[in-house]
Amino acid sequence: MPRFPERLATDRLQLRCWEPEDAPALRAAIDASLVRLREWLPWAMTEPSPVEELAARLRDFRERFRADEEWTFAVLDLRTGAVLGGAGLHRRAATDALEIGYWLGVEATGRGLATEAVLALARLALGPGGVARVEIRCDPRNVRSIAVARRAGFRYLSRDTTTPSGAPRDTMVWERRYFAEPDSPATGGG
Ligand SMILES: CC(C)(COP(=O)(O)OP(=O)(O)OC[C@H]1O[C@@H](n2cnc3c(N)ncnc32)[C@H](O)[C@@H]1OP(=O)(O)O)[C@@H](O)C(=O)NCCC(=O)NCCS
Repeated sequence: MPRFPERLATDRLQLRCWEPEDAPALRAAIDASLVRLREWLPWAMTEPSPVEELAARLRDFRERFRADEEWTFAVLDLRTGAVLGGAGLHRRAATDALEIGYWLGVEATGRGLATEAVLALARLALGPGGVARVEIRCDPRNVRSIAVARRAGFRYLSRDTTTPSGAPRDTMVWERRYFAEPDSPATGGG
C-alpha cells in the first residue's frame, strides 16, 4: 500500500495535505473560478457550500490521507502560501495505477503550475513504494487538461465510456509509467 509524504515542494509550489483551516481560502479560490470548474468537475456542481461544510470535507481528506486511502493535496504558492488550487492521487478500478486529479483557480492558470503539480505527483506515485502507472482521465473537450497531460509526458491510452461509478461518460485515459530523471515539462512526449 503506497504511503506518501504530507508535503512536497516544487520550484514554485508547495503541495500539502489539506487542513480544515484551509477552508476559507479554498472557498475563495473556488468562488473565483466556479463557472470554469463546473464545466469539468462534478464536485463543483454542488458548490458553493458553506465554509463549515468545506472544513469537514478537508478533515475527511486529511483522515483519508493519513489512512493511505487517497492523497488530496492543497496546491499552494511556495513563496506566499496562498491556496492556488488542488491536486490529488486517487485510487480507481485499476489496482496497479493511481489517477491524478487537478484544478487551479483562474488566477493561477497560464503559468505551467498545473503541469508542475502533475509532474510532482507523477514522480511521487511512480517512485519507491508507489505504483506502476499513473493515469489522467479527462473529457475529450477539455483541451486545457489534455494539454497538461501532454506537457507532463503522459501518453494517450484509451477511451473510457463510464465514470468510476458506472454512469455513461466519454473520457480520455492518459498514462505515464516511467520517470527518468532529469525531466521537465518541455521534454514530455504526448
Ligand atoms: C486544467 C487546468 C488545471 C489547466 O490549467 P493551465 O493553466 O492551462 O495549465 P498549466 O498550469 O500547466 O499552464 C499551461 C499554460 O501556461 C503556459 N506556461 C507558462 N509558463 C510555463 C512553464 N514554465 N511550464 C509550462 N507551461 C507554462 C503554457 O504555455 C500554457 O499556456 P497556454 O494555455 O496559453 O498554452 C485548468 O484549466 C483548470 O483548473 N480547469 C478546470 C478543472 C479541470 O478541468 N481539471 C482537470 C480535470 S481532468
